Amino acid sequence: MSSQQHRSDPRILGRRTLAEHHRHLAALLRPGLSVLDVGCGTGSITAGIARAVGAAGSVVGIDRDEHLLALAREEHGSRGNLRFESGDALQLEAREQFDIVTAARTLQWVGNPADAIARMRRAAKPGGLLVVLDFDHEENRWEPVPPAEFLAFYQAFLAWREGNGWDNRMASHLPALFRDAGLREVASHPSDETARRGEAGFAGAAPLWADTIESVGSQLPVGGLPRGLQIAEVSRIYRAWIENDLQVQTLSMRTVVGRVPDRF
Ligand SMILES: C[S@@+](CC[C@H](N)C(=O)[O-])C[C@H]1O[C@@H](n2cnc3c(N)ncnc32)[C@H](O)[C@@H]1O
Repeated sequence: MSSQQHRSDPRILGRRTLAEHHRHLAALLRPGLSVLDVGCGTGSITAGIARAVGAAGSVVGIDRDEHLLALAREEHGSRGNLRFESGDALQLEAREQFDIVTAARTLQWVGNPADAIARMRRAAKPGGLLVVLDFDHEENRWEPVPPAEFLAFYQAFLAWREGNGWDNRMASHLPALFRDAGLREVASHPSDETARRGEAGFAGAAPLWADTIESVGSQLPVGGLPRGLQIAEVSRIYRAWIENDLQVQTLSMRTVVGRVPDRF
């Protein structure tokens, strides 16, 4: 498997909130809980978690990307019950420390998600919860059908991901991975994010794939795009299309929840 890492786009991560972009977790949070957020990025969702658990609770956000962590500390570091640490999901050593361990849109970038889930399980207290939100990239859809240039990019994106060992149906595979890790009461909740023209949130959600074209475009291998297609051109065409034509964008997502068994 490739050791290539992907770099997430801070423009995209910075637009996210707990209430809108990790809804199922938001409903599970209570004052006083301790939470670990694996792959916290710029900390936008993590800061929402810290607000929800309040001063009696505590939150740790970890990420392997120092640049994103610096942005997280700059924006949210002053909150007393929240800290950001450098850390890799595949090297997590915490044991029985957190009431909830969560990862949002992180395992889609991990070549060995079973290992990450085993480590996240160990980091949670007996009786604690794992809450993982992720994509099924093969099921994302747009109305009307996007321009051919974008569809060619999207196929290249899926192929690049697959070549790096990153699961394009991560969300659907989570329940089996949870059960294999010994988690109980495993439940998978539909968590699609749908943006419709004319509705609140459309302007914030629509640029997602335009930003992704630009940030992933520079990471695609030479020859990753069909001949003659330039990233700048795909981006220009797609941005014009979302401005004028896009009606509905649906990100296919699920939140999977599992409970760590009690000790006895
Ligand atoms: C798409 S972003 C999601 C950020 C945030 N959780 C959200 O939902 O907006 C994925 C994040 O996971 C981080 N990441 C990917 N693989 C990781 C790993 N093995 N360990 C820690 N962080 C990782 C990336 O650096 C990035 O910040």
